[in-house]
Amino acid sequence: MDAREMKIKAAAEALTYVEDGMRLGIGTGSTAEEFVRLLAERVEGGLKIQGVPTSERTARLCLELGVPLKSLDELPELDLTIDGADEFDAALTLVKGGGGALLREKIVAAASTRMIVIADESKLVETLGAFPLPIEVNPFGLEATRISIEKAASRLGLSGELKLRRKGDEVFSTDGGHYILDASFGRIPDADALSGALHAIPGVVEHGLFIHMASLAILAGEAGVRTLEAN
Ligand code: A5P
Repeated sequence: MDAREMKIKAAAEALTYVEDGMRLGIGTGSTAEEFVRLLAERVEGGLKIQGVPTSERTARLCLELGVPLKSLDELPELDLTIDGADEFDAALTLVKGGGGALLREKIVAAASTRMIVIADESKLVETLGAFPLPIEVNPFGLEATRISIEKAASRLGLSGELKLRRKGDEVFSTDGGHYILDASFGRIPDADALSGALHAIPGVVEHGLFIHMASLAILAGEAGVRTLEAN
């Protein structure tokens, strides 16, 4: 099974959690896009849902495929969000933001009664941090914010490059007009402590650690699909 087939399998399993009438947060990334494709088929077949997209990219795909959308302002309370992740551990602490949508993803997930993560097995890790942690920052005072992050990380025993994300020749800009610093800490043994330290920095808009947000992960691997519940 190749990576795409695994993503499709996880997405198909996630669809079994979607019920008629649900208000649904719809994630961003290649796995979430497989979910959107399968969801669109079900919608065409009569399933009634209202979707809230976590990015402009997801919104475009939903509109193209006929998945009905509302804004989060129109539907501020959601039943379920289904989204991918870049990395997660057995406690279902996630690293997200590889696709640059972490802020909207987190706002949408926080507005949802339940969040389910869909991924291939390779995303499950023992210790978070091999995937660089995306940190969304305000463009104003970028260098000052970068230094503050470095110092806060160092107080927690963490170090590593903080790389300003680029897209071609341009600095990458999120849907909210912010920048992203990808932090290569290597290991994040205490996600709570790092989350608190980052939130204390004024120029940090949000970070990609999702703690106590997902209650279930659907993992697809060579041996099939399995679920993992938050402990
Ligand atoms: C988007 O900002 C991310 O949080 C995605 O959810 C994450 O990058 C997973 O993407 P893939 O499904 O493409 O691996």
